[in-house]
Amino acid sequence: MSDNNTNRDSFGSKFGVIAATAGSAIGLGNIWRFPYVAGENGGAAFLIIYLGFVLMIGIPVMLSEFFIGRSSQKNVFGAFRRLAPGRPWYLIGLMGVVAAFMILAFYTVVAGWTLEYIYQSLIDGFAGQSASQLNDMYNSFIGSTWRPLLWFFVFMGLTSAIIMAGVHKGIEKYTKILMPVLLLLLLALVIRSVTLPGAGKGLEFLFRPDFSKIGPSTILVALGQSFFSLSIGMGTLITYASYIRKDENLGFTALSVAMADTFIAVLAGVAIFPAVFAFNIEPGSGEGLVYITLPNIFNQMPGGYFFSLIFFILLTVAALTSTISVLEVIVAFFVEELKLKRRIATVIAAGSVSVIGVLCVLSFSSMAETKIFGFTVFQLLDFTSANIFLPLGGLFIVLFVAWYINRKAIDKELSNKGELKAGYIPFYLFVIKFIAPLAIAFIFLQGVGLINF
Ligand code: PFF
Repeated sequence: MSDNNTNRDSFGSKFGVIAATAGSAIGLGNIWRFPYVAGENGGAAFLIIYLGFVLMIGIPVMLSEFFIGRSSQKNVFGAFRRLAPGRPWYLIGLMGVVAAFMILAFYTVVAGWTLEYIYQSLIDGFAGQSASQLNDMYNSFIGSTWRPLLWFFVFMGLTSAIIMAGVHKGIEKYTKILMPVLLLLLLALVIRSVTLPGAGKGLEFLFRPDFSKIGPSTILVALGQSFFSLSIGMGTLITYASYIRKDENLGFTALSVAMADTFIAVLAGVAIFPAVFAFNIEPGSGEGLVYITLPNIFNQMPGGYFFSLIFFILLTVAALTSTISVLEVIVAFFVEELKLKRRIATVIAAGSVSVIGVLCVLSFSSMAETKIFGFTVFQLLDFTSANIFLPLGGLFIVLFVAWYINRKAIDKELSNKGELKAGYIPFYLFVIKFIAPLAIAFIFLQGVGLINF
């Protein structure tokens, strides 16, 4: 199309697109965040609402991001400027960049924990520890200062190195192998977990709904979790879609990625909750849930040493394929809008995110008592990015495509200029014109307490 599009990277193959996009979607959000958020919000009823949101809101928002990214071939800010010149829609892009800073800061902290857990697996640090000792081990690790800081910087360094390399080929190549391995390991954990004595209670918690536990804030949290897990609402997928070739099927990609992501989250729930109940851990015990529960399962498995090691390595990889997608949002913006070199853009982006990241690390130790609206810095970034920034971003994204972009452009992009049958378009348009925006707006206003039904 023009200027700096000629030397843009692009994904090499259909499977590469899915691997990279699913790599962004599948991550700590599925295996770490989903179980603890579901645990804090009543389990099964939360899961049902969550699934409804993925289908009715998540997939349409994802497809809208794909449309914006591929038709504009630009970073999140440039995309809106190109599709709506002279209009304030680019503010959505700016909001996305801000959300990327927030998410990357706290997410990389948790990603760093996975490195500590690889190390502990290596030295057989979980062996012979009781559930309560594993709990103490987790708390004393996150409550310390230097080790979590060190792992944070290591992880940020890894993310930056991949982004600096620029081409998605490396990651495309590895995600294609590693994501299926993650699935197999998760299945092994599921089998061990559901055969633990007392596992039934955990499955009941996850699958037998008790709707009395559901309130307006639960619904907002379910919406936020679906956005967070699918990587939607802040332009990550706008940025990635700008690298998708014109002959790929966007509708099919959105559906496959959303299904894979949801499947992994449910599977993580099935791996975690039986163990939670079997080892008498509180389902609502927060961010530590997975880090405390999984080592317990490993201790009860033949070959636990081996499984533990591989599992945390893969969790690291899953986290890494997500952190790069978030950093790419910022770097693509810096490179294309501020005309910075990719290397310099990466250093500036990672450096400034790290400043906030350090505060997140410290919010489990020396800054644990520093509260803003009752949240630590870590909790504030986790909660507000998922439950405020992403839903608002998603709302404006669907409004933009539904009401600003003309129908012909949508038909053309989603059908690859008529090459593909895209019979779902009228239904999709109806959803993004009315259902998705009304639902997001309503849930958002109700969830933050601005209206009260
Ligand atoms: N979807 C990722 C996960 O579930 O771990 C996290 C994430 C990546 C959120 C990219 C938002 C984003 F833009």
